[in-house]
Amino acid sequence: WWVLFQSWSCAERAKKIPITVVTAYDYPTGLACSMNPQVDVVLVGDSLAQVCLGYPSTTELTLQEMIHHSRAVARGTSHPLLVADMPFGSYHISTSDAVSNAIKLVQDGRVEAVKMEGGAEIVDIVRKLTSVGIPVMAHVGLLPQRYIALSGYRVQGRTVEGAQKLLRDALALQEAGAFSMVVEAVPQELAKYITEKLSIPTIGIGAGPSTSGQVLVWDDLMGTWPGHKAKFVRRFADLKGARDIGLQNYTSAVKNGSFPNDSESYSMDEAEWNKFLE
Ligand code: KIV
Ligand code: NA
Repeated sequence: WWVLFQSWSCAERAKKIPITVVTAYDYPTGLACSMNPQVDVVLVGDSLAQVCLGYPSTTELTLQEMIHHSRAVARGTSHPLLVADMPFGSYHISTSDAVSNAIKLVQDGRVEAVKMEGGAEIVDIVRKLTSVGIPVMAHVGLLPQRYIALSGYRVQGRTVEGAQKLLRDALALQEAGAFSMVVEAVPQELAKYITEKLSIPTIGIGAGPSTSGQVLVWDDLMGTWPGHKAKFVRRFADLKGARDIGLQNYTSAVKNGSFPNDSESYSMDEAEWNKFLE
């Protein structure tokens, strides 16, 4: 897959066909992504924490929880490249700790690459993982794992200094060996500029149309997530509406006795039944 990814990313880049990335947290979603040939990368994002496990932020997600969900997605995923987020705390203590945790994600979580948030301060870890053969997707701009330090979920790189830092970080991460880079919540002009400066593909979320690809959270694009809708989210389906109607129809049918009907029930052979009653 790796050779495929490389040649594909070059070919698609030349033709300027954007790369499609979507998040997944379970087996059925992995299957759905694999059945669509236009899905290039499946990301087991640590947005898992909020949209699937009900945590208030990604910082509470553990490595074990990420492994558990990655394995489930992996069972359903065939052709798309499978990437998992390194959870908060799993790559911050030391390089060797980061390597052993990334190996767990590959061996136990069955993913092919890992993603991590950060800039110049994590290049040693990116370099080390790359050198042992674990491909790293970088993540710059808005870093949700640092929402407290960033004073909330805000657009990044809007000032000259902020934009300069983002560009420096992106170049340092590429130099350290990152094979691609998520660019989150960044002004579109800056995302375009960074994309043109880099040779590796950028994957935008809230970064405008000029990145090499786009990523959205499954629950955002499917319209299952009832919470806050960010400016950059487009709901491509209304699964929440369909789901609520389905649940309403089921509970009403049970309550009014119309479910199950005769064709939905098993019957006994009449002779056997009469013998039983004797
Ligand atoms: O956790 C996540 O889903 C992500 C993507 C939105 C890039 O990091
Ligand atoms: Na994430």
